[in-house]
Amino acid sequence: MKKIAIFASGSGTNLQSIVDYIKQGTLQAEIALVVCDQPGAFAIERAKKENIPTFIFKAKDYENKVAFETEIVKELRERDVEFIVLAGYMRLIGETLLSAYSHKIVNIHPSLLPAFPGKDAIGQAFNAGVKITGVTIHYVDEGMDTGPIIAQQAVDILDGDTRDTLQVRIQDTEHWLYPDVLRKILA
Ligand code: GAR
Repeated sequence: MKKIAIFASGSGTNLQSIVDYIKQGTLQAEIALVVCDQPGAFAIERAKKENIPTFIFKAKDYENKVAFETEIVKELRERDVEFIVLAGYMRLIGETLLSAYSHKIVNIHPSLLPAFPGKDAIGQAFNAGVKITGVTIHYVDEGMDTGPIIAQQAVDILDGDTRDTLQVRIQDTEHWLYPDVLRKILA
């Protein structure tokens, strides 16, 4: 059973869907650690409810990114984590984590990259007036939402959609696509 860590900064709905797939037996993995950079994030509540160990930190308590990533790598190593899954972790991954987990970090992003990288990709696509957007899963490199693409799923933007109705369909897509892709990668 591969030991994975999930990194989150927000509500953790993708974390929850991965937990649910593992519990149903449709994804073989063990979440050995949830890493969160926002002490108030709901993702932490979800992890605690599932009895998953957490490492919670505030970037501003450290001198720099190297310092907090060194601490994260130590926590990951102690728990024999082999693979890192970014699920709404809103921070660029630095050299310390990239070299410790080379080609073993994946991210999910709510657009068809390379279109609409960065924050609020759903709002960006909605405001741009495009008719198709979607979800991308990719390996992580030093860039923002860059790195080799593993899978993409298109989502239509429908007449009458609001940003919120679009977000619901994008997130519904994320919640099956991420576990599905992880099943293939971790096999
Ligand atoms: C997800 O939609 C994910 O694709 C996005 O953050 C959201 C987290 O939601 N990630 C990015 O925008 C990365 N650039 P969640 O906390 O409910 O899983």
